Amino acid sequence: MQFDIITIFPDIFDSYINESILKRALQKKLIKITSHDLRKFSTAKGIHKSVDDKPYGGGPGMILMVEPIDKALRALKLKTKSKKSKTRVIMLTPAGQRFTQREAERLAKYDRLVLLCGRYEGFDARVDELVDEKISIGDYVLAGGELPALVVAEAVARNIPGVVGHEHALDDETFSHDLEYIEYPQYSRPENFKGMTVPEVLLSGDHKKISEWRKTQSKRIK
Ligand code: ADE
Repeated sequence: MQFDIITIFPDIFDSYINESILKRALQKKLIKITSHDLRKFSTAKGIHKSVDDKPYGGGPGMILMVEPIDKALRALKLKTKSKKSKTRVIMLTPAGQRFTQREAERLAKYDRLVLLCGRYEGFDARVDELVDEKISIGDYVLAGGELPALVVAEAVARNIPGVVGHEHALDDETFSHDLEYIEYPQYSRPENFKGMTVPEVLLSGDHKKISEWRKTQSKRIK
């Protein structure tokens, strides 16, 4: 899976990626992540390479212009027009479709995801025509799409076979069954921490009993 992140802060991704599960996935060549500096595609004259401008009709703040984004997308030479395309161009915006575990699983089936990060007061409305879908990671407004892009990249990458270390690590995980499922409680050493003890059954070595107990302990949120 190739992730292309279009952003005005291309350098903020490396430190997180290099300390996370994504690093191992990169090393194993299961994923590739490239961040692209939107300013390189500025159409403005002068040294500032601006990619934002005031909205027509007035109003607060600046919005990202359509032309640099169009240029950046064209530079990626995407084949989005073909029906068989395994590429998805995604705008990160609080106005998008809510991102969930199911969405992460769906997006993991693509070969290439282009993640377009906003800044300022949002995008020129014509950018909508350049993307396949819009995603929000939650009902709150962040300063930009960079954190959402990392959230989406990590959640998607974890669903690519081989990325999560232990073969069955995803099976019992919170949300893997359905969105109302919360994983059973887990304990590690010590057996007794300030009087709080590990449930007897987990120390019994009886795998059938343990499995039954875990089923009873998995919770539903709703
Ligand atoms: N950009 C700003 N806030 C966002 C959010 N909640 N989800 C996705 N992109 C965003």
